[in-house]
Amino acid sequence: MAASSSRGTSSTRFLVFNAKTAELLSHHQVEINQSFPKEGWVEEDPKEILQSVYECMERTCEKLTQLNIDISNIKAIGVTNQRETTLVWDKETGEPLYNAIVWLDLRTQSTVERLINKTPGRNKNHLKHKTGLPISTYFSAVKLRWLMDNVDEVAEAVLTHRAMFGTVDSWLIWCLTGGKSGGVHCTDVTNASRTMLFNIHTLDWDPELCKYFDIPMEILPKVRSSSEIYGLMKSGSLSGIPISGCLGDQSAALVGQMCFQEGQAKNTYGTGCFLLRNTGAKPVMSDHGLLTTVAYKLGRDKPACYALEGSVAIAGAVVRWLKDNLGIIQTSTELEKLAASVGTSYGCYFVPAFSGLYAPYWEPSARGIICGLTQFTNKSHLAFAALEAVCFQTREILDAMNQDSGIPLTQLQVDGGMTSNRLLMQLQADILCIPVVKPSMPETTALGAAMAAGAAEGVSVWSLRPEDLSEVTSEKFEPQINPEESEFRYARWKKAVQRAMNWET
Ligand code: G3P
Repeated sequence: MAASSSRGTSSTRFLVFNAKTAELLSHHQVEINQSFPKEGWVEEDPKEILQSVYECMERTCEKLTQLNIDISNIKAIGVTNQRETTLVWDKETGEPLYNAIVWLDLRTQSTVERLINKTPGRNKNHLKHKTGLPISTYFSAVKLRWLMDNVDEVAEAVLTHRAMFGTVDSWLIWCLTGGKSGGVHCTDVTNASRTMLFNIHTLDWDPELCKYFDIPMEILPKVRSSSEIYGLMKSGSLSGIPISGCLGDQSAALVGQMCFQEGQAKNTYGTGCFLLRNTGAKPVMSDHGLLTTVAYKLGRDKPACYALEGSVAIAGAVVRWLKDNLGIIQTSTELEKLAASVGTSYGCYFVPAFSGLYAPYWEPSARGIICGLTQFTNKSHLAFAALEAVCFQTREILDAMNQDSGIPLTQLQVDGGMTSNRLLMQLQADILCIPVVKPSMPETTALGAAMAAGAAEGVSVWSLRPEDLSEVTSEKFEPQINPEESEFRYARWKKAVQRAMNWET
C-alpha cells in the first residue's frame, strides 16, 4: 500500500491506495479555514495545515483498522500540495513567523507593477526564459519579498540565519520528519518551478533570480526529484514510514491521470482550474499566455518532463463565494440542482476575476463582474452563469494551448472535486465542442503522489511501467449543442472579460 497527503487550498486529505490495483482503500478529509484580513489578502494558518495532516493520517489509520487492514502494509507516503503558497519559519523554535500567504493573494500587486516597470519595455515576461513564468502576484518570490519587507520577525530571522522558506510541501516534510529536531528541508522540482527563483533548464535555484528578488539562497530548501526518499515519518501511527513522493498538486494530477506521453493533457477543477499538457523532455515556451512548468521528475536519475499550463484562479472558489458571500446555496452540491432548474443563464455572464485574471491574460487589476442582468434574472440563472464561467475559462486555456502546440486536443481528461457536478461536465463538453472524459476514481491528485512515493528507489512497491498500470474506467461527456450556439455564447463571454479587465475606465 502507498499513501498520500493531499493539501489542496480548501481541504486536507489522506488517502491509502492498493499499490497493485490503484484501488482507494480508505481516506479522511478535513476542511481548512482561510482568512481574508484585508481586501485581496488570503492567508492560512501553517499550524492548522500541519494539524489537519496529522488528523487525516490518524483517522485514516483508524478506518483501515476497522476494515481489518493492517497499517503496517503502508510502505510509503507522498505529499502533494497547493503550489506557490509561501511560508517562512524559524528553524530553531520550529514556529511559523507569519501565516501562509496563499497563491491567490493579491497584496503584492504594487510590488509586481514596480518590478514590471523596471524591466526593459515594461515586459512582464522578462524572466520567462529562465522561469517559464510571467512576473505576477501568483508566484512565491514576490510573496517572500513582501514577508521580508513587512514582517519584522521574518526580516530578523533572515538576518540571524534562522529563517527557512518553503512552499506547503517543504513545511510539511520538514515538520513530519522531525522539525527543529532534524527535519529535512527540501522541495521537489515541480514545486520549485513555481517560485520564480528556480531555473527550469538547470533544475536548480538560480543565483541571478535570487539576486533580482534580493533573496538569500541559504533560506531556500534543497531541490530534489519528485520520487525519492526524503526522510522518515517521526511520530504518530505511521512513524518510521518513508516520505518518498512530492509533487505540486497539478503535477500529481497529471501523473495520477497517467499523462506520461507527450501531448496528453488533463484539467483539474479545484479551488482554481489548471490545464496541463505534457510536452516531454523539452520546455516549450508559450506565445499565448500559458506557463512553462516542470511536470515531474520521477527519480533522482530520471529526466525531467515539462508541461504547458493554463492556470485559472477561480473555479471551485466561485461556488464557495456563492455559498459563503451571497448565501444563495447552503452546500456546494446544491449548485448543480439550482442551475439545472433553469438550464440557461438567460444571457447573464459572470466573470469571477476575484484575484485578477490569470492565464491567458495575466491582468492583476481585473475584477469580477456580472453582466447581462434583466428583471427576469434570478439566483438560478446566476448559478448557471457561475458554472458556465468555469467552462469558458477552460475554453480560453484550451484555445491558447491548441495555438501553442499546433495540434488541437481531441478530448479532455478531467478530475477534481467539481467533476462530480454532471451538469458542469456536460456544459464543459458543449463549450469546448470536444468530449470530456472523467475517471471513475476522481482522486487523481492523491493517486499521483502515492504512485510517486510507491515507485521511489528503495521502496519500489508501485510500478510506473505503462504495461503494469491498471486500466482506468471512465465516463465520457459528448458535446450536445451545435458549435454555432457554443461560439455565440463564447463570443459574449469574451466581451464580458474585456469589461472585467477595463472595469475602471
Ligand atoms: O497553483 C495553485 C494550485 O496548486 C491550487 O490547487 O487544488 O487548491 O485549486 P487547488
